[in-house]
Amino acid sequence: MEKSWVAPDTRHPNKLDRAVIFLGPPGAGKGTQAKELAKKYGVPHLSTGDMLREHVGKGTPLGKAAKPIMERGDLVPDSLVLQMIRERIERPDCSYGFVFDGFPRTVAQAKYLGELLKHHGYKRPFVIHLAIDSSILMRRLTGRRTCKVGGEIYNIYERPPKVEGICDADGGELMQRPDDREEVIGPRLQAYEKQTAPLAAYYGRLGLLHGIDAAKSVEEVGRQVLQSVQGVRGIR
Ligand code: AP5
Repeated sequence: MEKSWVAPDTRHPNKLDRAVIFLGPPGAGKGTQAKELAKKYGVPHLSTGDMLREHVGKGTPLGKAAKPIMERGDLVPDSLVLQMIRERIERPDCSYGFVFDGFPRTVAQAKYLGELLKHHGYKRPFVIHLAIDSSILMRRLTGRRTCKVGGEIYNIYERPPKVEGICDADGGELMQRPDDREEVIGPRLQAYEKQTAPLAAYYGRLGLLHGIDAAKSVEEVGRQVLQSVQGVRGIR
């Protein structure tokens, strides 16, 4: 791997000096929690789902390849995702650490990430496993609405906006993701079980996994996430 970037800056005790990874099935709350954690530490929130949707929206070659795969609820091939991630974490804004949401998603992606982090001088990642019973997920996913402008996440059943269809934060229009239809949610959950769930055992064996009960409220899950990150990092 070609060395092309500066080492992470670990001089600031309040900053993350590593990657935090959120692992969990569709609807577990990865995006909700990853956004908050990234905001708290002032580091980038790296959602491969959001990056891919941006490519789809812009009609780039990557977006054109990913669109039909995402629409049927399968995983986009590692080769496409890994290139995208490598380019992103080599940008200078990642030098204080970053929060992954939806990556890695296969053992091959996790192995590649491990090498990439080592190559750039990061400590080993910290993996938060959002564990949840799959019976809860359908309601969370079909009820999700996302702001077209700032990406704020709502739920029409659990966390509705003050005004229907409008983002509280910036007044943007709320939309439903095309893959949040019931007929796509099934294949997404199957892809998770088959290709991503084995990552819990993978990171568990490496001693990097921290499990959290994701069926609790957003606030309670957030409190536990923060506590676990502070515990591993010794940061405030
Ligand atoms: P991606 O965008 O990553 O979707 P996902 O993994 O299916 O996860 P979601 O975004 O659906 O759920 P989430 O866990 O973030 O939940 P959220 O916080 O929004 O991926 C989409 C597609 O892109 C994939 O299918 C694949 O094709 C492709 N892709 C992406 N990354 C890839 C990769 N690395 N490799 C290959 N392909 C890749 O919450 C959901 C709802 O629940 C919201 O309404 C929220 O308000 C609510 N909620 C959250 N927490 C709680 C709580 N504690 N209590 C009550 N409600 C809650």
